[in-house]
Amino acid sequence: MKTIDELEVSGRRVLVRDDLNVPIGGHGIRDDGKIRACLPTLNALLERGAAVVVCSHLGRPAGRPDPACTLAPVAARLSELLGRPVAFAADTVGPSARAAVNGLRPGGVVMLENLRFNPGETSKDDGVRGAFADELASLAGLYVGDGFGAVHRRQASVCDVAARLPHAAGYLVQAETAALERLTGDIERPYIVVLGGAKVADKLPVAGGLLGRADQILIGGGMAFTFLAAQGHGIGLSLLEGDLDVARGYLKRAVQCGVALVVAPDVVVAPGRDPAAEGEAVPSAAIPADQMGLDIGPQSARLFAAKLATAKTIFWNGPMGVFEIPRFAEGTRAVAQALADSGAFTVIGGGDTAAAVRTLGFPDDAFGHVSTGGGASLEYLEGKTLPGLAALQADDTPTGTPATAAGCPA
Ligand code: 3PG
Ligand code: MG
Repeated sequence: MKTIDELEVSGRRVLVRDDLNVPIGGHGIRDDGKIRACLPTLNALLERGAAVVVCSHLGRPAGRPDPACTLAPVAARLSELLGRPVAFAADTVGPSARAAVNGLRPGGVVMLENLRFNPGETSKDDGVRGAFADELASLAGLYVGDGFGAVHRRQASVCDVAARLPHAAGYLVQAETAALERLTGDIERPYIVVLGGAKVADKLPVAGGLLGRADQILIGGGMAFTFLAAQGHGIGLSLLEGDLDVARGYLKRAVQCGVALVVAPDVVVAPGRDPAAEGEAVPSAAIPADQMGLDIGPQSARLFAAKLATAKTIFWNGPMGVFEIPRFAEGTRAVAQALADSGAFTVIGGGDTAAAVRTLGFPDDAFGHVSTGGGASLEYLEGKTLPGLAALQADDTPTGTPATAAGCPA
């Protein structure tokens, strides 16, 4: 994979695909870790005289503008962190983007609006995606892929643009793949994986892929309820996502492979996600019909911590509960503490999980590596070919006339 060090960027317009999909709450950006993670590449390009066009998705808008998913606050934060202005385009490839890009000078930065406001970004139709990629590619002469958290997505800005412009990987993609490589191949064992979080339908297949690799898989957070339901337990009002037959298949395969698949034995329940709710720990097999599981319980926290203390390698993806509400953050805190106390090589995967541990006051250096990619790191560990990495590895096939920054020689 070519890196930006091998790219001649001075005076060139460079389209940088970042993953700036940060958690945004009532008071703005809740955790800017993903924005900070993009800085080394952006600063290097700018110092070398490039004109930079930054693009990203945020959330999952349905292919049309959605004010709740605007990247405007992210552009403002990026500007503070870079210490230079970031012009914000109100569209992705429309008149606002073109005007902003045409006015760009070396050392200047433009951020495009959320890529997923355009249906071409996520289309399953190669032609539709390709047409959007053509328009994105026309904004720059070079492409840098640095959005590690999105490299598992076959999307226009992640894959198709790379096939249209000379390209290279940014420093974040390089650092992430170097760290995650330690969790593939010759792994120091016991290797324990902790899975939680809410994007259960996405992550369930990954749990299956890890069955052949990990020695133990500990399951909490939203994913626990899918497995509890698969085992025939009532889960009340708790989150239920994913295919129960698939979960049943994994439970069976785990026994066959000799992998301990451990579902949290108790959960903290409340009538709803109410910050004022008291919450009560109950056995996972006895969740009342009118209650919702919002965190793993104290028995699960102790069990998970005891198991993690025996590991040599740990990978953790997905909070154990609704950590944003202090009453339901204890399970997530216990797992974070177990990793921090461990002598194992520990990797935290995923923007949400990284944000959770920072919110709970753990510094990044309490862990071996904090990945910005959730789904991406899981699929990498499964040994899958990630479309965004494959696109960066593919040979450059420059087409068309290189776009240069305004006022720069071609
Ligand atoms: C993430 O937060 O996991 C990445 O930004 C990818 O987002 P997605 O799951 O909506 O594609
Ligand atoms: Mg995620």
